[in-house]
Amino acid sequence: MQSVTSADEARQAAASGVDALIVQAPAAGGHSATLTPARPLAPVRLPDLIASVRGAVTLPVIATGGIATAADVTVALRAGAQAAMVGTVLLRTHESGASAPHKAVLADPASATTTVTGAFTGRPARALRNHFTDRFDPVAPAGYPALHHLTGPLRKAATAAGDTRLIHLWAGTGHREARVESAAETFERLAGRV
Ligand SMILES: Cc1cc2nc3c(=O)[nH]c(=O)nc-3n(C[C@H](O)[C@H](O)[C@H](O)COP(=O)(O)O)c2cc1C
Repeated sequence: MQSVTSADEARQAAASGVDALIVQAPAAGGHSATLTPARPLAPVRLPDLIASVRGAVTLPVIATGGIATAADVTVALRAGAQAAMVGTVLLRTHESGASAPHKAVLADPASATTTVTGAFTGRPARALRNHFTDRFDPVAPAGYPALHHLTGPLRKAATAAGDTRLIHLWAGTGHREARVESAAETFERLAGRV
């Protein structure tokens, strides 16, 4: 399987012989799978991206990026995806390995917005906006993985100190729906069973 962020990337993935596509909208938390990280991510909605990929290739589509409720899953399936995939909405579950400061700030009303930033690693990734993204995003070079290694010790120390102004708080646009519960309960909710 290959993650793709556009119809063009879907065509390239299909030509290389993959069995299925993970179609990732820019609402996704964490790093974008884009093949052109130096270019700003196109602000496409997940259902439109699914439709565009389905118009380009015939491979099965797993939709992802910003899915956080049962309604979001329904929209993705109606748009033509065979399955839905989530990341952010699991970050506060009992099974999640996210750090304690990361889990806490996801639920903090003061952290209302996410932003796509290359400041932490030199590759576009969606995170909660904080002091680090505000200060360094405007000047960050597209330098993955050098920037990742450069900022790594600082982020590790900030995590140990619980200083969320400097941590890479990966989060998609659906982060408000992340709950403290078991992952199984989250999936039941997304499947519309509770
Ligand atoms: C904390 C976190 C870490 C992630 N790490 C990776 C990774 O190592 N490799 C990867 O391909 N995608 C990674 N992703 C992106 C997910 O594969 C997926 O595209 C994304 O979580 C889906 O969007 P959502 O977060 O809005 O559900 C990560 C996402 C998050 C939230």
